[in-house]
Amino acid sequence: MHKGKLWIGTNWKMTKTIEEGGRYTELLKDIEGTLSSDIQLFIIPSHTALYPVKNQLSESSILLGAQNMHWEDSGAFTGEVSPLMLNEIGIELVELGHSERRQYFNENDIDINKKVHAALHHKIKPLVCIGENMEQKNNSISKETLASQLKICLKGLTEEQVKQVMIAYEPVWAIGERGIPADSSYVADIHLFLRRTLVKLFGDTGREIPLLYGGSVNKDNFLEYIDIQNVNGLFIGRAAWNIESFQEILHSL
Ligand code: G3P
Repeated sequence: MHKGKLWIGTNWKMTKTIEEGGRYTELLKDIEGTLSSDIQLFIIPSHTALYPVKNQLSESSILLGAQNMHWEDSGAFTGEVSPLMLNEIGIELVELGHSERRQYFNENDIDINKKVHAALHHKIKPLVCIGENMEQKNNSISKETLASQLKICLKGLTEEQVKQVMIAYEPVWAIGERGIPADSSYVADIHLFLRRTLVKLFGDTGREIPLLYGGSVNKDNFLEYIDIQNVNGLFIGRAAWNIESFQEILHSL
């Protein structure tokens, strides 16, 4: 491994029952014990599995995250979960602005910014997802799109606050079953751009913000991504849902 701390995590999306998640978590704990201390693992189950998984992780350094939350502490918001409720469980992370949330639930950068502030207020680490879609890429406006997402999502944060934030760059066209894995040269160029944008926005503190890559990461391509200078970790979906396949990746780092 070639760099400092490496963040490796998986978003379970809407997969795994409590029982399935429980089995997976037990096996992941065993694997975690065999990894270099430079690797910081995190898992992001569905809301229903958070509480049992948190109990399973009580002696573990694997961090636990939620896939979404509202920005209000409580109120008449049917179907939503608040930062206060997630805090009660003891989660450490919250994923905000995943492209599926943006695409299917109309989340926008302004909502995400409110959630980032709420998460920080409750001492939950925000993992902010950004990414351009295929149309934006084809129109050569990927960088403008990403700069705008970063600017709005992180609006109003102090340098001290932004140190707690992580960014996941996930090109929308690279995610999921129909995703096309991105070339590592493309990812390198975008991550350099993101780093520079963060430095423009937050000065030297921008260098400390972990930049994760996600989108069709698998056992055949993860080493190429992890070798990129401004990639500080990987955010994996399908290739980490099966514990054996995740183990193969983790043991090759
Ligand atoms: O949040 C990670 C995810 O969007 C990537 O999914 O299945 O393309 O690795 P996948």
